[in-house]
Amino acid sequence: MKMIREICKNVFQVGAIDWDRRLFDALIPLPEGTSYNSYLIKGTEKTVLIDAVDPSKKDLLLENLDKLCVDNIDYVVSQHAEQDHSGAIKFLIDRYGSTVLGSQKCIELLVDFGIVSKDKVRAVSDGELLSLGDMTLEFISAPWVHWPDTIFTYLRERKVLFTCDFLGSHLATSDLFAWNHDSAKRYYAEIMMPFRANARRHLERVRMLAPEIIAPSHGLLHNRPDAVLSAYADWTSDDVKNEVVVPFVSMHGSTEKMISHLVDALIDRGVSVKRFDLTKTDTGALASSLVDAATIVFGTPAFITRPHPLIAYTAIIANALRPKARFASIIGSYGWGARIVEEMRSLMPNLKMEIIEPVIVKGYPKEDDLRAIERLADEILRRHRELGLL
Ligand code: FEO
Repeated sequence: MKMIREICKNVFQVGAIDWDRRLFDALIPLPEGTSYNSYLIKGTEKTVLIDAVDPSKKDLLLENLDKLCVDNIDYVVSQHAEQDHSGAIKFLIDRYGSTVLGSQKCIELLVDFGIVSKDKVRAVSDGELLSLGDMTLEFISAPWVHWPDTIFTYLRERKVLFTCDFLGSHLATSDLFAWNHDSAKRYYAEIMMPFRANARRHLERVRMLAPEIIAPSHGLLHNRPDAVLSAYADWTSDDVKNEVVVPFVSMHGSTEKMISHLVDALIDRGVSVKRFDLTKTDTGALASSLVDAATIVFGTPAFITRPHPLIAYTAIIANALRPKARFASIIGSYGWGARIVEEMRSLMPNLKMEIIEPVIVKGYPKEDDLRAIERLADEILRRHRELGLL
């Protein structure tokens, strides 16, 4: 779909909206599609393109450039080598003879991936300037949001900061600028949360630049940068909220009964709960809930003595995303044998959460088991109070 917009004088969004994509990395659900933003900057002396869309959309990018009658692109800035931003680079080189600029790491990756040859690339360093005539680009090193190669690009005279994946969102929309940050939060959870400390550091650099427009390479742009920067400051902080995330799976109703009792007990105690039945859950929504929660309680039956594969999958995802939750527990039911707790711990070595006494019961939960769950709710409440969360 056509997506040419002039976001400020002589700066155009020429990328592609992907309305139909429903999965990223063969893992991340995209309920609202995504976009691969690409930006054309026409200076009086040099023309630059920033990022070069997913391979599936390279024809759209080239058509958009035709519609703008672009007959020369001096430089393609590759802010990050991942394929969803480098898909059209080789075609741009073929058509325009462009030189590709990127971090040293990005250039190495592009060459290793077979996208460019060494004679068509040049590494840029942190703080390096590139004159386009009436405008100037500044390159800013921003590694580990979420690859080691990322740079931001600042168009000084227009105060536009291009941030590639950082501050982006997976959203297919005809809107240009963000009106809320729901999709950005989900994207942060899925992509940036494992790199929280780096994201926090780069936020400071962005604030110092004081851009008027932030232009990521996915989803919506930000023409009120303070709003998204404040949201990110909250998400990347060490602060947690009075929330418990409860992902669970139940085979015969025993674990579900325990989960229901826990959820009611937590609500009675004034603790917010986000409950996810893993047979129905959108993992992006679950990831998003992990951004703020103080506590995670996993619910699982024993599946051949071990955690059910759906909860094991969730534990592996949580271990990779590294949420800032302080506490965790495990509740569940078994028939003839259980190694649930040891296995769950082994699946999450990255997480430093304190484990509150798990509740694992044989068969359907009985009165004593339900009292144990209430004690777990009491313990969660006590710890949340100690953190001053309520
Ligand atoms: Fe949007 Fe890391 O690629």
